[in-house]
Amino acid sequence: MIILRNVTKAYQTGRVALSGVTLTIPAEDFVFLVGGNGAGKSTLLKLLTRQEVATSGVVMVGGQDLRELPERRVPAYRQNLGVVFQDIRLFPRQTIEENVSVSLRVAGMDRRTDGRDLVADALELVGIAAHAKRFPHQLSGGEQQRAAIARAIVRSPSLLLADEPTASLPPDSSWQVVQLLAEINRRGVTVVIATHDRDVVDRMGRRVIELDGGMVRRDDRYGRFEPGIDVSGSWPVVGVRTDG
Ligand SMILES: Nc1ncnc2c1ncn2[C@@H]1O[C@H](COP(=O)(O)OP(=O)(O)O)[C@@H](O)[C@H]1O
Ligand SMILES: [Mg+2]
Repeated sequence: MIILRNVTKAYQTGRVALSGVTLTIPAEDFVFLVGGNGAGKSTLLKLLTRQEVATSGVVMVGGQDLRELPERRVPAYRQNLGVVFQDIRLFPRQTIEENVSVSLRVAGMDRRTDGRDLVADALELVGIAAHAKRFPHQLSGGEQQRAAIARAIVRSPSLLLADEPTASLPPDSSWQVVQLLAEINRRGVTVVIATHDRDVVDRMGRRVIELDGGMVRRDDRYGRFEPGIDVSGSWPVVGVRTDG
């Protein structure tokens, strides 16, 4: 469960990136964070990874108040997070399987656990098991992003954050990557995706939170990229869709 209450983030430059943001994301939810350039999407995700600390307000993740979390406990907190970026960030001189297993090694976890190979399982789940021994440049952009997703989920995090994960991909791969994130969500992982990929958001018809100038402008349960007629009422009115 993610709870933001009246959160403001001002950078040292004085730029106010978020202002009075209040929202709740229950465990196992699937959320698109949309909004124009500079709306505050990345800043919001950075508060959740504790790359940045809110200036005021409350940021709670899984019962932990991130503004109160001491620096020495941040690495442990991050072990329960998976993060995916637009610019993929694989190590070019390591194979795909090495890239994924690094994520376990940093966490002090064993690759083979209870007779299972966690790296093989993750690569299988994202659909690139056949490419385990290849290097990143030998994969397409979409496959590289799948590898990055495998790296993000290999430790079985409960929260997966993705910042523009499809921005550098062609439409077909974008759709597949988002389908993959939805499949991971179905396995019980909370997923938050910052995106300006209109097609993907509209096709998915999932929860959409729109930021505008650092403020929440809209929070639709079955949303679209652009504000439209919301048939369901805003979160937290969970219920039966009224459109049949
Ligand atoms: N490290 C930073 N220092 C100062 N200003 C920043 C920093 N990061 C982002 N900003 C500013 O904060 C605002 C929100 O940025 P960001 O969260 O990156 O928005 P988005 O991801 O929606 O494009 C923008 O005005 C941006 O220029
Ligand atoms: Mg951004």
